[in-house]
Amino acid sequence: MQHFSIDTIQSWDRFYRGNFINCLSGFKSASLIGTVNTAGVTNLAIFSNIIHLGADPALIAFQNRPTAAAPHTIANIEATGVYTLNHIHPSFVDKAHQTSAKYAAEESEFAAVQLTEEWRHNIHAPFVAESNIKYALSLVEIVPIQHNNTFLVIGKLTDAFVDESCIESDGYLSLEKIQSVTSLGIDGYYNVSKVARYNYAKPGGMAEEIWDKNI
Ligand SMILES: Cc1cc2nc3c(=O)[nH]c(=O)nc-3n(C[C@H](O)[C@H](O)[C@H](O)COP(=O)(O)O)c2cc1C
Repeated sequence: MQHFSIDTIQSWDRFYRGNFINCLSGFKSASLIGTVNTAGVTNLAIFSNIIHLGADPALIAFQNRPTAAAPHTIANIEATGVYTLNHIHPSFVDKAHQTSAKYAAEESEFAAVQLTEEWRHNIHAPFVAESNIKYALSLVEIVPIQHNNTFLVIGKLTDAFVDESCIESDGYLSLEKIQSVTSLGIDGYYNVSKVARYNYAKPGGMAEEIWDKNI
C-alpha cells in the first residue's frame, strides 16, 4: 500500500489532486435538488455532499460550495425556504450530471436537460417526476463554514414520496431495489448491491445477520 503525505498531495496537479481527495471519503448519496426563484423560474442541480443529521426531528443537510461557484440553489432556498431532493435512476444519470453545468438563472435545468417538473399540493418547490424517491425539506438553518467559504444548508423533512417496492416491513428502504445510484468523486456514478443487514450491535458477541429474513 502506498503512503501519501499531505505535502505530496499538495504538490500534485489540481485536477489529479481534486479527483483523489474527492474519492477518498467514499461513495456518496447523489441527488437532484429542485428549487424555484421568486420570479417562478425553476432550478435543478446535482449535489452529493448530503448528510443525515438526525431522525427526530428529521434533519437532512447538504453542503453548498462558495456562492460564486454554485449560486442558484442556495439563493432560491434562502428566498423561498423550500426545496426537494430527488434520487437518481440510471436511466437519467446523464441528465442528472448535466445539471451541474453553469446555466443562467433565467434558464431552467428541467427544460435544458429534459427532466419533468412535478408539483405537489402545498409544496412550493418542484420535484423530478422521473425520480423513484423524492422528499421536500423546509429550511432550518444555513451554517457558514468559514474555513473554506462553503455552507451547510440544514432542512427539516416535510413530505416524502417513495416507490412502495423498496419499503421493507420495518421501514428500511432497500434502495438497490429501485436502483438509486450512488456517486464517487465528482463524475462517477454506480449501481449498488446489498452486502448484508444486521441486528442492532451490542458488546459481547457478533450481531446476527438479517439478510435473508423477510422482516
Ligand atoms: C456528482 C456531482 C456532485 C456535486 N455535488 C455538489 C455538492 O455537494 N455541493 C455543491 O455545492 N456542488 C456540487 N456539485 C456542483 C453543482 O452541481 C454545480 O455547481 C451546479 O451548477 C450548482 O447549481 P446552482 O447554481 O443551480 O445551485 C456537484 C456536481 C456533480 C457533478
